[in-house]
Amino acid sequence: MICLELTGATLRENLTLLQSHTNFVNMAELRIDLLTTDERAAIAGFPGQVEQALGRPLGRALPLICTVRRASDGGSYVASESERLRLLEEGITAGFAYVDLESDLRESPAGKAVGEHARVTGCEIIRSIYDPVGQPADAEAIVRRLSDDGREIARLTVTPRTTADLVVLLEAADRTRDVRKILIGTGPYGFPTRILSRRFGSMLTCVSAPGTEQAAPGHIGPVDLTTLYRFRDITPDTRLFGIIGSPIAHSRSPQYHNRRFAADQLNARYLPILVDDVQAFFNLADRLPFHGVSVTMPHKEAVLPFLADVDAGTTAAGSCNTFVRRMPGAAPPGWFGVNTDVPGFLAPLREALGENPGGLGVTVIGAGGAARAVVYALVQEGARVLVVNRSVDRAAGLVSDLQPLGSGGGAIASASLAPDTDLNGYRDVIVQTTSVGMHGVGDPAPWLRFDGTELVYDIVYTPPETPFIVRARSAGCRTVTGDRMFDAQADAQYRLFSRLAVS
Ligand code: ATR
Repeated sequence: MICLELTGATLRENLTLLQSHTNFVNMAELRIDLLTTDERAAIAGFPGQVEQALGRPLGRALPLICTVRRASDGGSYVASESERLRLLEEGITAGFAYVDLESDLRESPAGKAVGEHARVTGCEIIRSIYDPVGQPADAEAIVRRLSDDGREIARLTVTPRTTADLVVLLEAADRTRDVRKILIGTGPYGFPTRILSRRFGSMLTCVSAPGTEQAAPGHIGPVDLTTLYRFRDITPDTRLFGIIGSPIAHSRSPQYHNRRFAADQLNARYLPILVDDVQAFFNLADRLPFHGVSVTMPHKEAVLPFLADVDAGTTAAGSCNTFVRRMPGAAPPGWFGVNTDVPGFLAPLREALGENPGGLGVTVIGAGGAARAVVYALVQEGARVLVVNRSVDRAAGLVSDLQPLGSGGGAIASASLAPDTDLNGYRDVIVQTTSVGMHGVGDPAPWLRFDGTELVYDIVYTPPETPFIVRARSAGCRTVTGDRMFDAQADAQYRLFSRLAVS
């Protein structure tokens, strides 16, 4: 179930929020702590207003949760505890289907009385603990205690601080399959719990409407959850894919792959996973399980020891941007690493040239991980490559590593990235692979004068219009921008993933 967090300052605001999202949600939680003091006095009328606005009885159609979250639990309520209990009592009487009562209310006589009132009224109790800063080690024991042998719905909201925490949370979820519960990891490390709430055994996932005060960090909007992640159609058979990196929140890959899975009607989803520790991610990937994974900074080298086998592009680049689970029976079993930057770089180049780059003279600016994949691709195709880098030793190292792999008839040389370096003979194509130009700032070779005949290719795609590309285009050069390479390498990944997805 999808629960919309009603986080407006007024009941009217919350009603409007609910009305515009009824098609996307199954229930809603009124966050009374976020209402103004005046509005709190009027909550008794809210279930009736919702019923009227929706034109159908609330009951099971759109159950409401009544919650007054204290500031100490990550909410906004700071007034007296007796007034808070009175508000909860009012919600119970007013016809809210559920009331959220924190675990400590089991201890005090006044708190017990509220619970008793809920029980006799038929308002279900959600017994909660909210940890806004961390995650208790004994999540399983806590969930069981909250549940009170099934008499109440256990709600444990925690804040995983590492990928390993997420694994621990999943283990706790697996061990409490028999318990009716709401289990949510907030914050960036907890994001997968929001999409995979059923996998985490949680009866609901909470969403906040975009533009509202977010009820908790890491929330996702109801439209993204239902349309991009197709939440309602996620089943135990859904194959999981994702991208690991740090940071990861702004990756374009989830949009790209989820749209294609949906278009091809594949029961597969692709999630952004914030990863601080690659080993912990592989534990998660085996448990969930994952079937294919994209890799971005800073893990492209760190994943290598975990792969059973890799393609030649990965060996050459010394880095891997994709790995997939090998088919059952494949030898060796485990993960297979692929560097899709190699075909991803070549596809738009071939298109722009109208032919393979074999025999052409190419300057590659930069000698980092990305340059290695680019140089390998070019040499395999039989191009003659000059690698120019700020640190010339690094360029020389790249050349000596890749030269033995050059089976395609190409050749590689290195030089310094400097105005006096002679690029003659290497000007058919000029490829820019350094990070200079990211965020639209900087030019790695401002002294380089284009004569208009070069094909200029910048692999930076944030933004694709780098100063280098703009300068090349104004000199009359044909250009290829980094977004083309991004799409082509993503397409190569998708072809690997879709073979492992199920329809
Ligand atoms: P990636 O894996 O994305 O290629 P990397 O391995 O850190 O990243 O490599 C970054 C590349 O950008 C290197 O070629 C680096 O040059 P050095 O090897 O001399 O460091 C290049 N680079 C980064 N900042 C630069 C700058 N301001 N001017 C020129 N080159 C730069």
